Formats: sequence, structure tokens, C-alpha cells
Amino acid sequence: MYEHDVVVVGAGGAGLRAAIAAQEAGADVAMVSKLHPVRSHTGAAEGGINAALRDADSWEDHAYDTMKGSDYLGDAPAVEALCRESPEEVIRLEHWGMPFSREDDGRVSQRPFGGLSFPRTTYAGAETGHQMLHTMYEQVVKRGITVYDEWHVMDLAVTDEDDPAERTCHGVVGYDIQSGEVSGFRANNGVILATGGMGQVFDHTTNAVANTGDGVAMAYRAGVPMEDMEFIQFHPTTLPSTGVLISEGVRGEGGILYNEDGERFLFERGYANNDGELASRDVVSRAELTEVNEGRGIEDEYVHLDMRHLGEERILDRLENILHLAEDFEGADGLTEPMPVKPGQHYAMGGIETNEHGETAIGGLYAAGECACASVHGANRLGGNALPELIVFGKRAGRHAAGEELGEAKIETGRSGDWQPADYEFGIEVGETGRPDTAAADGGAVAADAESVVGAAADRAQERVEELLSRDGRNHAEIRSKVQETMTANVNVFREEGRLEKTLADLRETREAYKDIAVSDPSRTFNTDLIHTIETRNILDVAEALTMGALAREEFRGAHWRKEHQERRGCARAWHLAPRPLP
Ligand code: FUM
Repeated sequence: MYEHDVVVVGAGGAGLRAAIAAQEAGADVAMVSKLHPVRSHTGAAEGGINAALRDADSWEDHAYDTMKGSDYLGDAPAVEALCRESPEEVIRLEHWGMPFSREDDGRVSQRPFGGLSFPRTTYAGAETGHQMLHTMYEQVVKRGITVYDEWHVMDLAVTDEDDPAERTCHGVVGYDIQSGEVSGFRANNGVILATGGMGQVFDHTTNAVANTGDGVAMAYRAGVPMEDMEFIQFHPTTLPSTGVLISEGVRGEGGILYNEDGERFLFERGYANNDGELASRDVVSRAELTEVNEGRGIEDEYVHLDMRHLGEERILDRLENILHLAEDFEGADGLTEPMPVKPGQHYAMGGIETNEHGETAIGGLYAAGECACASVHGANRLGGNALPELIVFGKRAGRHAAGEELGEAKIETGRSGDWQPADYEFGIEVGETGRPDTAAADGGAVAADAESVVGAAADRAQERVEELLSRDGRNHAEIRSKVQETMTANVNVFREEGRLEKTLADLRETREAYKDIAVSDPSRTFNTDLIHTIETRNILDVAEALTMGALAREEFRGAHWRKEHQERRGCARAWHLAPRPLP
């Protein structure tokens, strides 16, 4: 068993920043990640980091834009923390050597992004996340922080009191992808989940194959409330054949969207008369799909994004990466022709419920970044607000977990918060099928000491690995693709009750099928069949929670469009607990 003060799960932007902050606060920190840090999905972030850096701008204006963009569902203390602290965090990155794009006078460049009242998106070409990741990883190396990379965290080690609010997280269980070893990681102060997104729940996504909602699913199974799971962002400009992101930076620099008839439809068809291409993402994605559904799409699938008029010099200076992506993945030369684009899953606004210090309802368990929901983004995230979230809330969680006093949190978590049960009656049983229902959490035993809790969780994980490797059964790929197909067909930009109900039924069937899952590759070294099998359970749990949220939220708000409920209901926030006791 490994032992550290703070264990950070995931090594993308939030995880790296959390680890640095905890180390600076005096903790012995370890990062445990299924990927090497610089392969984390933060590296795919293109457009930029919102921060009020200029005299003519202010954090209050940034907060106003963020709250408006969230369709008024963001939690004010979290929004305030984001917007107040983002400038100092960006300056810190700059001092750490991050190569931002610059103006002729040497200042860090900023460009317009959707929903912003000021051009406050700082960037490094169209590869901002890549530069950010490398800059922070250098700091982790410099500080000698221990990194267990290519360790897949399978479970949390949590006590199993009936009331989740009384449970404590003592660590995690990891599977070493290189050697096949299963081991507990005991965290004396706290575990910080920074596992990123859940895009693999859908089959057309900008997210990497590794984004399987692992932290969200583990926390859910351990009894942490999930907040705002139904709010999924569909980015308006992804490449049709792969889902690869074409940055909003293209529209920020002046790129234009056209339909098949050559109309600049956002204006000409009245979707966004003021902001056009720079309306918020939910508006632009709905507009594009409406154009396609009404027969004005190209090849009945996509629209065109044109940046030719920006000129070669400007494109090469600020958007070079986009040229390569469009050419390599779609065969389109952005200098001489428009690029095909359509909406694709990009980001989860919801996730593990936390307060503004990153604390969850379970003692010793924190979350930060995309897997967490503080909630900064409410019903719709503004472009350029994800990267500041990683560094601001990663830092906060790291400091708090290391024992630094951050003051009393204003956001309540768990049942102490302001919540009400959904009216919606789920006609379908949810949760795992055919499991004994005695233990509450995936963790250890009530009143057991920390070491026994982590040890028991590791033993269970080891048994599970052996079971999966030794039996015959179905392959994960069949189950995973069924989940992705039904989610993409039915829980997309436009949502209807009957189709959401059908999705829950489909997910029930896939859960049943998952009971027979097995791993055919018997090896202990780099067994991706095994890792994908474990991830597929996470995908299933996350997909079901998301769909339940989509049914329960009977209103049209932000990115959540409901055919039968076109009005806004004004409910403040929504979360639910895992719907069943767990093995
Ligand atoms: O379009 C983009 O570059 C993405 C930025 C973001 O999601 O914040």
C-alpha cells in the first residue's frame, strides 16, 4: 500500500494545479493517473483562458457574463471565485513560462469568445491547453511531486455508513497498467478527483477515448450527490467525421458560418441577431441543427465555417493548428475552402457536487475541474471558462486538502443544501442489476481504521480483476457502443420525453448485458481490454445519471432543450444520489 498526505487522481490541468498547490501548502502529494500527465485531455483545449486582465475589463464583468451564459444557474460564490482569481492564475502561468500569444507591445493577447462582453480570452495560438499542461507539468517535476502514471484508479476507499454525509474517504485503489499490480493508495489528508470529462458516453465527441467519467462514476457509487448532470455542452464546430474540435477561436477571430444556400444563417434566419457566430454555444448548436433538420445543411449533416477572409498571415499566426486539424482529419484546406462543421459533445457542466473549496459531501473527498460541479457553468459554459476553472478550483482543492484554512464555504453540499426531489416518476428501474444490496458504498467497513478500509477496497478490486480475466463472456466494445449510440441518438441537443425514456430502457438492457462482461486478453501488461471493460461500467453509470437528470429537469434551460417543456421553471439546482445500494 502506498501512503501520502494528498492523493490527486488525474493529471490534467486541475490535477496538476491541485498537486502544486497542495505541495506548496506543505503536503506530501502523489498524483495517480491512467495517462502520463502530458497526454491528458487538457492538452486538446484550443481556444483559451478567460481572465479580466485589462484596465477596461473587470472580474465583475466576467462574472456577469458567466452568470448570464449559465442561464442564471451558476452558483454565485463559485462564479465569483472563478472570475476574481483567474487573472492571478493566468499571470502565474505566464511567470512559470507559458508561451502566450502576444501583441506587438508585448502584452498577452486576448480575443473575443462567445457570450463575452469584452475580448478576455487569453491564448497560446490554438493550442492553449497543450501549453498549459506542459507548463504545469514542468512545475510538478521541478517540485519532485510523485507521479504514478499509467495507474488506473478503479475505486475509492470509503467507509460505508448509511448516510453518505457520515462517510470518509481514506484513499483509492489503483491498477498498474504496466505490471498488472493492484494496490491501495492511502491518503492521510484527502483524495482529490480531477479525472476530467465523460465524453465517451457519446459517440460524436471532442473528448479523448480516455474521457470515460471515471471520477464521476466512482464518486456517484460512493454516495456523493451528482449535480446538474443533464447539462451537456455540444460544441458548434466539430469535424463531422471524427468529432475533432475546431476552436471557437476561429469565430473569435472573425470566422463565419454558412448554410448550404450560402446564408449567414445566425443573422439571416434570426437565431442570434446581436451576436451572430459569437452567440453562446447552446444557441449556435441549436441553430446549426435546425438548419440541417430543415434541409439547409450540407450533405444533410453539417454547415460551413469559413475563415479564408482572415488571410494567411493572421491564420498562421493565431490559428495554425486549425489548418492542420482540418487538413489531416477532413481533407479541407482552411486557407482556400470552408471547413465542414457540426455540433458535437464537448463538455459536461455537471458532475460531482462540490462547494467552492472543492469539498464533496464525503469527508476527505474533493473534486476539481470538469468532473466537478461547484457550479460555475450552470446550464451552459462559456467558451474559455473551462481552463480557468481547472487552475482556480484545482488550486483551491489542493490547498484545502493540504489543510490550509480557506474560510467557511458559502455553497452547501449534500442534504444540507437547498434541494428537492424531482417530480418525475421514473417508469424504469435504474441502477445495477442482480447485485446484492447490503453494503452502501464501494468502500470498506464502518468504524474500520483507514488502513483496513483501503486494504478491503484493494482486495475487492483484485477479486474483480481476477474474475474479469478468468471468465468467458461479452466484450466491452459491444456494450460501450450501444450506450454511445442511444445517448447520441436521444440525449443530444434536442430532447424529447419518449426518447429519453427509451434511453433509460436501453441502458437497463446494457446493464443486464454488462453482467456477462469478460476480458479475453489474459495478459497483465498493458491490457487495454481490461481497462476498457472497467471504464465501460463508469460510462454506464454516468449515462444513466445523465439521462435521469434530463428527464427530471422539466424545463428548457441553457443547453438542456426539452420539447414538452419550453418554459423555464426557475429551479435552483438539481442533484441526485446513486439510486441503489452498491456492491
Ligand atoms: O473552442 C474552443 O477552443 C474551446 C474552448 C473551450 O471549450 O473553452
